[in-house]
Amino acid sequence: MKAVLCPAFGAPLEVADIDTPRPGPGQVRIQVAAAGVNFADSLLIAGTYQEKLAPPLVPGLELAGTVAELGDGVAGLAVGDRVMATVSGGAFAEQAVADLTDVHRLPDGLDFVTAAGFPVAYGTSHMALTAKAGLKAGETLLVHGAAGGVGLTAVEVGAAMGATVIATAGGPDKVKVALDHGAHHGIDYKSEDIRERVKALTGGRGADVVYDPVGGSVFDASLRCIAPDGRILVIGFASGTVPQIPANILLVKNVTIIGYWWGAYRKLDPARVRASMAEALAWWADGRLRPHVSATLPLAEAARALAMLKDRSATGKVVLTVG
Ligand SMILES: NC(=O)c1ccc[n+]([C@@H]2O[C@H](COP(=O)([O-])OP(=O)(O)OC[C@H]3O[C@@H](n4cnc5c(N)ncnc54)[C@H](OP(=O)(O)O)[C@@H]3O)[C@@H](O)[C@H]2O)c1
Repeated sequence: MKAVLCPAFGAPLEVADIDTPRPGPGQVRIQVAAAGVNFADSLLIAGTYQEKLAPPLVPGLELAGTVAELGDGVAGLAVGDRVMATVSGGAFAEQAVADLTDVHRLPDGLDFVTAAGFPVAYGTSHMALTAKAGLKAGETLLVHGAAGGVGLTAVEVGAAMGATVIATAGGPDKVKVALDHGAHHGIDYKSEDIRERVKALTGGRGADVVYDPVGGSVFDASLRCIAPDGRILVIGFASGTVPQIPANILLVKNVTIIGYWWGAYRKLDPARVRASMAEALAWWADGRLRPHVSATLPLAEAARALAMLKDRSATGKVVLTVG
C-alpha cells in the first residue's frame, strides 16, 4: 500500500510502498478515505511529540474510511462500515489499523473528509470544556488560536454549551472565521491588547474559563484577564513557548490551571472518551457543530499540508484525501 513515510526525524517526507498493516486482537483495519492533519504531526516527525514513534514512521493521528478487516474478538462492527478513528500514527496511508475503542461509526450524512478532521479537535474541546473545566452556561470562555484546528472547535463547543465566547486570532480574516462559528466577540491580537479587550467585554471581571492551545505571551495575557476563581486549560504550545507560571498570581486570584492531554484519555478512560465523542457527534447531527475544513489535499502533498499549519495560512482543519 502507499503511505507517507518519515524516514528519519527532521527528514523530508516521502510517499513509499510499504506492507499493509494487519489488525491484531481487538483491532480493525480501515481503508482510509481521508486523514486529518494536526499540529502534532509536525512534532511527531520532528521527534518532539510527547508520544514517541521510532522512524521510519507513518504520521497521521486521525482518519475516516471503511472497515476492511476485523481482528480477533472484534464485535459490533462489520466490514464495509463507515467509521472515523484516532490512531497513534499511521493515518497518512491507504490502510490503517486502529484499536476498536478508538473507532466511531459515522452518522448518516457525515462525509469522510469532514469526519477525518473531527475526532481529535472536537474530542479534545468537548471533553476539555465539559469534563475538565466544567464550563457553565452564562460563563465567559476565552479561546486563543480560535481559528485553528482545536481552537475553532472550542469556540463552537463553548457556544453550544451556552457560554459567551471571546475569540482571539491573528488578523481580521481569522477573527471573522471564529465569529462565523459562534464566537460572540473577536479580538485581533495583532492590533488589539487581549487583556484590555477582555476586561472591557466582561465589565472588568475577566474570563471564567480560558482555552489555550498557543502558550507563550498569550498565556501571560490570560493570567492578567482571568476572572477570580477562573480556570485555564493548558491545551498546547503552538507558539513554541511553554509558559512558566507565577504561583503567586494563582494564589491571589484563586486560579486553577488545568493540564490536559486528550490523547492520554484514550487509554486512561476510554469509556469517558467514547461518551464525549458520542455527545459531540449528536451535537453535529442536530446542527450545533459545523466543522470547517479550509483545505483538502491529496495524500502525496502531506508536506504541503503540514506547512499550511506551520505558516498559519490554514483555518479550521486541513484534510488529506486518499485514493
Ligand atoms: N491537549 C490536547 O489534547 C491537544 C489536542 C490537539 C491539539 N493540541 C495542541 O494544540 C495546539 C494547536 O493544534 P492545532 O492542531 O489546532 O494547530 P493549528 O490548526 O495549526 O492551530 C494553531 C493556532 O495557533 C496559533 N499560533 C500562534 N502561534 C503560532 C505559531 N508560531 N505557529 C503556528 N500557529 C501559531 C495560530 O493562530 P493565529 O495565526 O491566529 O495566531 C493557529 O491557528 C498544538 O500545540 C497541539 O499540539 C493539544
